[in-house]
Amino acid sequence: GLAPRTTQPLSKDTAAGKTFDHLQGIIENLFDEAIHKAFPGVLAQYNIALDVARTRTQKFGDYQCNNAMNIFTALKGTSGAPSSPRDVATAILAAMPENNVIENLSVAGPGFINAFLKKEFIGTRLETLLQKGVHAAPSKKMKIVIDFSSPNIAKDMHVGHLRSTIIGDAMCRILEFQGHEVMRINHVGDWGTQFGMLICHLMDVFPNWQEVMPDITDLTQLYKNAKQRFDEDEAFHKRSKDQVVLLQSGDEQSRKVWNTLCDISRKEFQKVYDRLGVSLYEMGESFYNPIIPKVIKMLEDQKITEDSNGAKVIFTSKYKQPFMLVKSDGSYLYDTTDIAALWYRLNEMKADWIIIYTDYTQQDHFGLLFEVGKMSKILDPSKHRVNHIGFGTVNDESGKRFKTRSGETVRLVDLLDEAKARMKEQLTSRIASGQTSLPASEVDAAAERIGYGAVKYFDLSQSPTTSYEFSYDKMLSTTGNTAVYLLFAYARLSSIIRKSGVDMKTLDTKVLKLADPHEVALAVELLQFQDIICFINKDLASNRLCAYLYNIAEKVQLFVTKCRVIGVPEQNSRLLLCQATLKVMQTCFQMLGIDPLDQI
Ligand code: ARG
Repeated sequence: GLAPRTTQPLSKDTAAGKTFDHLQGIIENLFDEAIHKAFPGVLAQYNIALDVARTRTQKFGDYQCNNAMNIFTALKGTSGAPSSPRDVATAILAAMPENNVIENLSVAGPGFINAFLKKEFIGTRLETLLQKGVHAAPSKKMKIVIDFSSPNIAKDMHVGHLRSTIIGDAMCRILEFQGHEVMRINHVGDWGTQFGMLICHLMDVFPNWQEVMPDITDLTQLYKNAKQRFDEDEAFHKRSKDQVVLLQSGDEQSRKVWNTLCDISRKEFQKVYDRLGVSLYEMGESFYNPIIPKVIKMLEDQKITEDSNGAKVIFTSKYKQPFMLVKSDGSYLYDTTDIAALWYRLNEMKADWIIIYTDYTQQDHFGLLFEVGKMSKILDPSKHRVNHIGFGTVNDESGKRFKTRSGETVRLVDLLDEAKARMKEQLTSRIASGQTSLPASEVDAAAERIGYGAVKYFDLSQSPTTSYEFSYDKMLSTTGNTAVYLLFAYARLSSIIRKSGVDMKTLDTKVLKLADPHEVALAVELLQFQDIICFINKDLASNRLCAYLYNIAEKVQLFVTKCRVIGVPEQNSRLLLCQATLKVMQTCFQMLGIDPLDQI
């Protein structure tokens, strides 16, 4: 009998563009069917992955299938084997089922099969988009915990936390857009050993703290002073350590001071979140303290813990270093909180998927945590998905960690202020030179939206896992892959619709007719939306969305320079294309946490 097909057969309805299933899937199904017909079961039998992708140059087609080469290699030496990869490609091409999706198939080079999307197909799907709005391919609803931002109490949020906050928020938005239940968790560092010295120091500096709660504006300075005493003064060092034990055992006085410290920090963090439009739910390290004994007992009952010089540890087969459960003095560590959090999120919150964003130095910590999770059956890989994204550092132009002139870490609020100020300058000079009719009264708000958007976008457009160089000039440039360039493209399309004077609600989508190659190129790009989301779901490379927006903006640029819109016979059809583009761009901006403007 025939070996099972690798994917589900294509329904006629999908091919007609009636559903929101992603385009990549539709094309894959067609090639899968053709391959299966020409070489029954070959992909499954030889474990070959179906390889269908966008072509690099549009001249040759919109999509290409690259399987002829590996099918040829697999069949070599068997009876009736094809004589060349090109023969394989030709056979697949001949077996392509009749369909209303692709046309003009051809074999190129050693055996690539190129295909163009049919214009009517593109038009139908675009009409659906105009009528029903932008949607992701349907998927099973999941509960997803995203652990992001997660700064530490009493320390400044710096440019490192910026990445976690911005990228984490974008990932939340992307998954929320798809209808998943996303829990935005702020795992703040509110329970470490640093609180011993902080509490002691605060009690010393504000002896009457019991009557008047100290008004601390500069928590970072308090932290620095406490740290200096901790490092230099042995008696203070000892006191601080005892204080941690007191705090962790629930001592009321310690709790009170601790609460004050957390409150002050919380207010500072919130200022940044408000500016960035990021919402988070705080469940810090301290939240898990009460459940730690229970989780430790569970691990002990499974006999996977070991004693190592008085400390309780777990060894895994993957890592040399042990997972540290309890220190020899009986105190808990970062590892302990995280295994308790893993248990809580999977068992109590019933998460199907957990994504954690931190800097790359914590890679091993989470690798080890997930191993221990599997060993202890807290984590069941057949049911749960877990990801840690370790992002790179933000560097200055000389490749060193981004700092202020005086060597301090750059505060997030200052950075946002600077971006806004520079954008304001740019807009003001645009107005002065008559490049825009943006009213002067709107400059401030526009500068803020574009400036903040530029900071976010600069970060989002880089791969989350690599380091990058921070540069105001680059992020605020009006050309290249920047928010400014994209927002301009968006505003330009909006202004075309505005200037046409046409009430878009009255336009029948039936008048949409794609003829000019620049129209077609833009439309094909718009139809990639669902595919991009699917790819991001797989590899979490949220920067794909930026690359996608940039591709659209480039196609927009060509479209508006080559195709007149207002006052030509194609006007209404082209206005619809503008509108579809705006819809897709706006959805992408929304997922990136950027507010586009209709006029710049
Ligand atoms: N507070 C940590 C830091 O600033 C990040 C915490 C990440 N989340 C976690 N579950 N450990 O590096």
